[in-house]
Amino acid sequence: MNIVILAAGMGKRMNSRLPKVLQPLAGKPMLRHVIDKARQLNPSRLIVVIGHGADAVREAFGDAADITFVLQEKQLGTGHALMQALPLCDLASPTLVLLGDVPLIEVSSLRRLIELSADGLGLLTVCLEDPSGYGRIVRENGQVIGIVEQKDATEKERLINEVNTGIMLLPTKNLGVWLAKLKNDNAQGEYYLTDVIGMAVQQGIKIVAAQAGSATEVEGVNNKVQLARLERAYQRQNALNLMKNGVTLLDPDRIDIRGELVCGKDVEIDVGCIFIGKVKLADGVKVGAYCTLKDVEINAETEILPYCHFDGAKVGKNVRLGPYSRLRPGAVLADETHIGNFVEIKKSNIGFASKVNHLSYIGDTDMGSRVNIGAGTITCNYDGVNKFRTTIGDDAFIGSDTQLVAPVTVGKGATLGAGTTLTKNAPDDKLTLSRARQVTIEGWKRPVKKK
Ligand code: UD1
Ligand code: CA
Repeated sequence: MNIVILAAGMGKRMNSRLPKVLQPLAGKPMLRHVIDKARQLNPSRLIVVIGHGADAVREAFGDAADITFVLQEKQLGTGHALMQALPLCDLASPTLVLLGDVPLIEVSSLRRLIELSADGLGLLTVCLEDPSGYGRIVRENGQVIGIVEQKDATEKERLINEVNTGIMLLPTKNLGVWLAKLKNDNAQGEYYLTDVIGMAVQQGIKIVAAQAGSATEVEGVNNKVQLARLERAYQRQNALNLMKNGVTLLDPDRIDIRGELVCGKDVEIDVGCIFIGKVKLADGVKVGAYCTLKDVEINAETEILPYCHFDGAKVGKNVRLGPYSRLRPGAVLADETHIGNFVEIKKSNIGFASKVNHLSYIGDTDMGSRVNIGAGTITCNYDGVNKFRTTIGDDAFIGSDTQLVAPVTVGKGATLGAGTTLTKNAPDDKLTLSRARQVTIEGWKRPVKKK
């Protein structure tokens, strides 16, 4: 099968610098949703017709070897668009036409269309309460005889509520003749792909109409209002799937998944959380309100308190995080660690049961087990040019407001006094501090305001 995705349209009503088919739905360009669906059908050729914003679209998918892009320089209509792709199609197999602005199409509907119309011409249609804007399916004695666009339809035809989703399976060998015969003498002055239906009927080819699973999956996006509506529909579906698998969502209307979220048993997610990329939450994990988790793995029974931001981190079992913790790429937290408020951790290993509870930056650090980091501790990992690592041994105790100037090592069981600026290694089991001796000045008076 050939699959041709029509994506050259300009999307004027988006009012955006970004081409319509690159507008994101669930964090992913609409066109990528369509391409991902197309790939599930294993087409022998996958062709995308681009035009408006062609360079940007090409760049967004440039690395995909299985896609051929065809330029439609002037957007003269859907029939003209398909004509650009025809020379690249395999004439011996049928062509499935998809639209770049219909992102939520279900593979099951496409399969049904393909099965039903095996050696004829198949249309994916849907009945809508309000069919306005869509092409209407015209039938005679129950048989499809053509499609008429809204702008060309008579009063009576406009009452038809079965509409063309724009998705169809066409016999490729006939397309050369049909597309060449298209005329643009219609209300929009365009070469309508939909006019090939009438030609097929005249030739005695049977038209099969397969029904789409729902109105949402075939809804086209022309503006930001429709985009937002489809976003919500998509997120609601994600939420339903999670709940079916046993996840507790405190409000299924307030969760956003922009990627893939995999959950174990008895996971609980509070309101306002965003999951990006690949996120794994193991059994019993609790995520507090308003957290953003991107590409992270959280192991069993870990609790994340509200307002945490994680990106590219791996977290062990029984860990407590937040509120207001930030994990950056390369943060690896062992089991039973505690990371508290206003703590940022980057490219660091935090050993078993270690605690960084308040107001700290830990970067490029290897920390052993049972370490306690006092409030306000900073690893000075960057000299303005290069980055250096800090090593902290098991059972070390770092006093509050300490700076660890890397490269530096704190020994096992070492204690650093509060306020230390550590520039040389601190030995095992000893107290190290860099503080000046405390003095009290006798007879000192506070200055008074001059008259
Ligand atoms: C089209 C159908 C209509 C159907 C509706 C479903 C035609 C004539 N009409 O109408 O029957 O109900 O889709 O959503 O086919 N495109 C190009 N090149 C062009 C014109 C369009 O690539 O020259 C692409 C667009 O990027 C878009 C798709 O084709 O992805 C549909 O085009 P659009 O102009 O939105 O068609 P509709 O008026 O919605
Ligand atoms: Ca459209």
